[in-house]
Amino acid sequence: MEAMENIKSRRSYRAFKPDPIPGEVMQEVIEAASNSPAYMSTQPWEVAVVTGKKKDQLSDKLLELAKTNAPATPDLLPPPPWPPELDERKHEHGTRRLKTLGIEREDKEGREALRLMNFEFYGAPCAVFLYLDGSLGEWSIFDMGLFTQTLLLAAHARGIGSVIQASVTDYAPEIKDFLGIEAHKKLLVCIPMGYPDPDALINSYRSIKKKPEEFVTWCE
Ligand SMILES: Cc1cc2nc3c(=O)[nH]c(=O)nc-3n(C[C@H](O)[C@H](O)[C@H](O)COP(=O)(O)O)c2cc1C
Repeated sequence: MEAMENIKSRRSYRAFKPDPIPGEVMQEVIEAASNSPAYMSTQPWEVAVVTGKKKDQLSDKLLELAKTNAPATPDLLPPPPWPPELDERKHEHGTRRLKTLGIEREDKEGREALRLMNFEFYGAPCAVFLYLDGSLGEWSIFDMGLFTQTLLLAAHARGIGSVIQASVTDYAPEIKDFLGIEAHKKLLVCIPMGYPDPDALINSYRSIKKKPEEFVTWCE
């Protein structure tokens, strides 16, 4: 796929076919992501690729925690209150996504079912976890963002759909313990990956993007 087309057509997918991603394809995608820029070339990224029984067991564990509303202890602080403009965008995203699925805002059960899909990795055959050493600071988190987007774009170039998840990292200590990741590492995101299910209603949802004229100042 041409690079510009790849960037423009990348979007989140939240339903997948059961087909596994061949190991060599996953290797290629991760290797491409390793070409990401990083502060003084420090390359803080660490990656766990979880598939098969291990992924199913982890999903069962997370689903249980989420269903029982077990206390959330993410490694990253939750975002502070959003300023009005961003809060409005967040609200619009939530409302439009529910509407796509025919779920009303008042429909608590429907909303809960949608929330819980996160903890099943939206049915993806592969869950990728990104983490870094706990001693690292904001610039390294910045680097992780660069790595994340490169990973997503490389996957997209190979027909693999993905969605970044912060929600799942509510249970960071449990995930790290289950995957044998040292407790002092900082778990950033989970990224379910797989071949998108084109027939799933949830995949028909598209987010609205800000236009450049809304965020660019041209200084001449
Ligand atoms: C840091 C971060 C955390 C996110 N967490 C979740 C999540 O927990 N669950 C989910 O369904 N989507 C999650 N998303 C996906 C966003 O909702 C999505 O990227 C946004 O709506 C824009 O849509 P697009 O990716 O299709 O362009 C997350 C995205 C980012 C960057």
